[in-house]
Amino acid sequence: MSVTTTAALTPTAGSALTHPLTLSNVTLEYPDGGGTIKALDSVSLRVAAGRMVSLVGPSGSGKSSLLAVAATLVRPTSGDVIIDGINTGGLKDKELTALRRETVGIIFQQPNLLASLTAVEQLMIGHHLRGNPLKAARSRALDLLDLVGLAESAGKRPHQLSGGQRQRVNIARALMGSPKVLLVDEPTAALDHARSASIVGLLRRVTDEFQVATVMVTHDTEFVPLTDAVAVMRDGGLTAPVVPGALLSAGVAE
Ligand SMILES: Nc1ncnc2c1ncn2[C@@H]1O[C@H](COP(=O)(O)OP(=O)(O)OP(=O)(O)O)[C@@H](O)[C@H]1O
Ligand SMILES: [Mg+2]
Repeated sequence: MSVTTTAALTPTAGSALTHPLTLSNVTLEYPDGGGTIKALDSVSLRVAAGRMVSLVGPSGSGKSSLLAVAATLVRPTSGDVIIDGINTGGLKDKELTALRRETVGIIFQQPNLLASLTAVEQLMIGHHLRGNPLKAARSRALDLLDLVGLAESAGKRPHQLSGGQRQRVNIARALMGSPKVLLVDEPTAALDHARSASIVGLLRRVTDEFQVATVMVTHDTEFVPLTDAVAVMRDGGLTAPVVPGALLSAGVAE
């Protein structure tokens, strides 16, 4: 399937600094019995700093696969994944892990918090294990919890938090490493309407304040207008992202 890059998202000339995330002709095949399944078919996508793209499309169309490849969790079969100006195809596994930790924030549907840790500890643990001093990790964690509206809940464990609050901890945790790219897979799937709206609003604010390049998979087309562009996946192929209003009026996002 033919694919176009993000004209709607590239107000300035492209460079590593203005476009922290670039996928170029990415194809991903999974083994399937004797043959293969093409989860991604020559996908190209470029997201500028401070911009947020909604990724929509039917179940099985490849949305999570795109995020996994963009997160460098899965290497593509062919094509380039360029994060913060670095072509990840040339990196060894260890280098890839370091790049991911430093530059990519990943937020999945289920927060995956550790039951025994308080909110502030959920944020601190990874940061501290990566060699940052405990005091600095704690200070940054408390600042981020404040940013996501959980200053009062820093000492609470997951079972003492609502679903929306747990997702906020998840978002704050993804920001601990000062990412340039934020990849979000259906962050509102487990939440009611009011909480969903506030989570998407928070992701919008974080994208603006931290100037990250954000891709958010969502089934809630209602929240698409909060984002700068929407891209549609079908059968592993991506349509060129367009501004939400244009797509909605064309009826494509339904
Ligand atoms: N680890 C895997 N091994 C084999 N096939 C896989 C694997 N992960 C995904 N697939 C296949 O790749 C295709 C795309 O899956 P993907 O999870 O990316 O879809 P999706 O758009 O995220 O769907 P949903 O909306 O249901 O989450 C599907 O055909 C799926 O069965
Ligand atoms: Mg998925």
